[in-house]
Amino acid sequence: MFDLTDKVALVTGAGRGLGKAMALGLGRAGANVVVTSRTLSACQAVADEIQRSGRQAHAVACDLGRGTEVVQLVADTYERFGRCDVLVNNAGVNLSFLPLFETSGAMFDEAFAVNVKGPTQLAQLVARRMGEGGGGSIINVITAGILPGVRGIANLGPYCASKAALHMLTRVMAEEWGPLGVRVNALAPGTFVTDMMAELESTIPGFIQHAAEQAIQKRAAYPDEIIGAVVFLASSESSYVTAQTLAVCGGVC
Ligand SMILES: NC(=O)c1ccc[n+]([C@@H]2O[C@H](COP(=O)([O-])OP(=O)(O)OC[C@H]3O[C@@H](n4cnc5c(N)ncnc54)[C@H](OP(=O)(O)O)[C@@H]3O)[C@@H](O)[C@H]2O)c1
Repeated sequence: MFDLTDKVALVTGAGRGLGKAMALGLGRAGANVVVTSRTLSACQAVADEIQRSGRQAHAVACDLGRGTEVVQLVADTYERFGRCDVLVNNAGVNLSFLPLFETSGAMFDEAFAVNVKGPTQLAQLVARRMGEGGGGSIINVITAGILPGVRGIANLGPYCASKAALHMLTRVMAEEWGPLGVRVNALAPGTFVTDMMAELESTIPGFIQHAAEQAIQKRAAYPDEIIGAVVFLASSESSYVTAQTLAVCGGVC
């Protein structure tokens, strides 16, 4: 069970944080992995680690805010592996912790470019080919912070709005691409100790502790604790799961 041998997984934001844990975890489950973010050296280090465990891995630099780079990422993936069975749209940016009165249009543009438009473009480019290859799984990483329903977090307007948009697009993708054999689900992390959280902590001391206390488990999580959920959604063990949201949040939502 949970075997991804001979599957190809593309993970964005995979040079560090949750994406790195997911890429390594998918590799351990047997997948060959395309490891991508803007920083090639970080991706190469993760790819090397996957290769040492006996799987194939390919590091590609791509800024999700640049459409031509997204097109090239997909071309590189198919040139290297000939297929893509799993897409994890993990990369995301927060950018600011500001009230809406101080939030500019440019901040919304950047959040939506990286958190919504890039992942959607990537999904568009792989979904049809996934279908032609017998189906696939797309996993869009949102945030448990906006669940259940659609909850807002003060001072995180562009981030919350962009994640809510990706959440909705997950449902639309699942509807449109279900007939192709492509399942699309959202994965919603709670509070994980990564650079993104460290940035928030440096702006607002105590942020991580406060966020952790919202969870039933009263703690933040380590990146490896996301692996089980992403391997489940990637594998055929979730073959009847689509258009759903899986929260890995210690019971926060
Ligand atoms: N950590 C948490 O507690 C938490 C909670 C809820 C949701 N999430 C979500 O989980 C995902 C991963 O979060 P994380 O905590 O691991 O974040 P992180 O440590 O800040 O890592 C973000 C990743 O995204 C990449 N990235 C940023 N901008 C990019 C761009 N323009 N193009 C391509 N890649 C880009 C970064 O690599 P480069 O800088 O090299 O490009 C990095 O690999 C995000 O979508 C985040 O919103 C995290």
